[in-house]
Amino acid sequence: MREWTREEKYRYLKDPQELTELYGRIRGSVYRQTFHNQAVTGLMNDPNGFVWFDNRWHLFYQWCPWGAVHGLKHWYHIVSKDLITWKNLGVCLLPDQGDGYDNKGVYSGSAMPIRDKIYLYYTGNHRDADWTRHAYTCLARLGNDGWPEKYPLPLFGSHPDYTEHQRDPKIICLPDREDYYMIIGAQTKEKRGCALIYHSEDLQHGWEFAGELTVPGYEAFGDMWECPSIERIGGRDVFLFCPQHLTLPGRGDSRNHNGYIMGTMDWESLTFTPDGQFHVLDFGFDSYAAACANNIEDADKAILIAWMGVPDVSYPTDEEDWAGCLTLPRELTVRGRRLIQQPLPELKKLRGEKIIPTPDAKGCCALPYAAELEMDCRAGDVCVHLFTDEEGKGGLEIRYDDKGREITVDRSGLRTQFNVQEGAFRKRPLENGLSHLRIFIDRSSVEIFVNDGDAVFTSRVFPKKEEHFFRMEGDLFPRLWELRPAVKEEFLI
Ligand code: FRU
Repeated sequence: MREWTREEKYRYLKDPQELTELYGRIRGSVYRQTFHNQAVTGLMNDPNGFVWFDNRWHLFYQWCPWGAVHGLKHWYHIVSKDLITWKNLGVCLLPDQGDGYDNKGVYSGSAMPIRDKIYLYYTGNHRDADWTRHAYTCLARLGNDGWPEKYPLPLFGSHPDYTEHQRDPKIICLPDREDYYMIIGAQTKEKRGCALIYHSEDLQHGWEFAGELTVPGYEAFGDMWECPSIERIGGRDVFLFCPQHLTLPGRGDSRNHNGYIMGTMDWESLTFTPDGQFHVLDFGFDSYAAACANNIEDADKAILIAWMGVPDVSYPTDEEDWAGCLTLPRELTVRGRRLIQQPLPELKKLRGEKIIPTPDAKGCCALPYAAELEMDCRAGDVCVHLFTDEEGKGGLEIRYDDKGREITVDRSGLRTQFNVQEGAFRKRPLENGLSHLRIFIDRSSVEIFVNDGDAVFTSRVFPKKEEHFFRMEGDLFPRLWELRPAVKEEFLI
């Protein structure tokens, strides 16, 4: 794996031309996605600033231009009218090239439209000459020309009672109220993960520290909480966050998780009282830093998108100098004490003609590079082998054990193995059995929606040329569609 010096990782982008050669190289990769957003060059991680404004969706992503390395982060801007087809608008927030508050990265955050402008709240990652870290919560206003105007001073600096790991501001507007909250991921000096709450009567000024969020039962749950947010969906409060550096049952040696707790938020006492346990948001191998759009009108749902990747690991395309893509946007609703995640109805627009897969003599069907595979599952055990070779061997196995009432996704049969330390399989109990699977396959990813969004498994996969078949076992009724591209390769910096 390539070793990066600090100078290489934190090099400032002076001229887009510096990326032309890199882009020319990576656009030929067989793993470039066709209906998922991906790094234009280099590395993408968290989705940021997801809002509806001026008749289109705006989304930004954490972007390091130079290669598959978590170096100097920018916000790259993309837009969509339907959340399915996307257009690149180019880099939006760049780090300050001097000693400014965000001189070593414009880190994650959120956005809020106020009157005719979008306001971007982000973490300025500052490093002193001796590389000491300081976190600032900063604001920028997006002009009509698409360029941001950064406020000269941050809204506030880091709180002195916590370590400098304070980041990822999410703006929260409560219904029928004229004041605002902001939630920030943080770490106590004893190295416990926590979230800090700020309050203001005005979105642009006067932010004051309100206190640390109390979440009874979660006082020792990882050493840092990244990307926290509190959403109100269907009359319930949901606390979403990414607790780091802890292991969880059923998640192998994985130490970074993205999950949620349902409960009740009391904004006076800043207490989130859980009603149930911590749930993993996505049971697959690669999903993190999920963000909900900030201004949805419909109180019964949210729209969520996540980074299809996890921190502290590497991916096969690192060698090609790019990494990272986003998940499909998902509609979130609440059922009982759980979140239900479903693909957006508009995705059907990408479908080509419906195919009823017919297995060849070896029991295999051809698997297109970009496809949707849907199946009703009647009764008994089920096994779907995706990305097998033409003999039906190997691949990614989706196994449902009817007696044990459990579904397993097992990637040990894929030829390209990576991040093996994170484990070969992931499981999820299905108390009511398996009735339905909807699977989205792109050139280097698979998203499996189980029982109409009751569980989702999202993973990167890097199938070889010969791994483009699938076979199925069980009492199933499958349908297959090839999917049209929805994300244009566009070199726009
Ligand atoms: C989560 C995260 C955030 C941070 C950003 C930097 O993946 O570490 O906490 O703001 O990525 O890119």
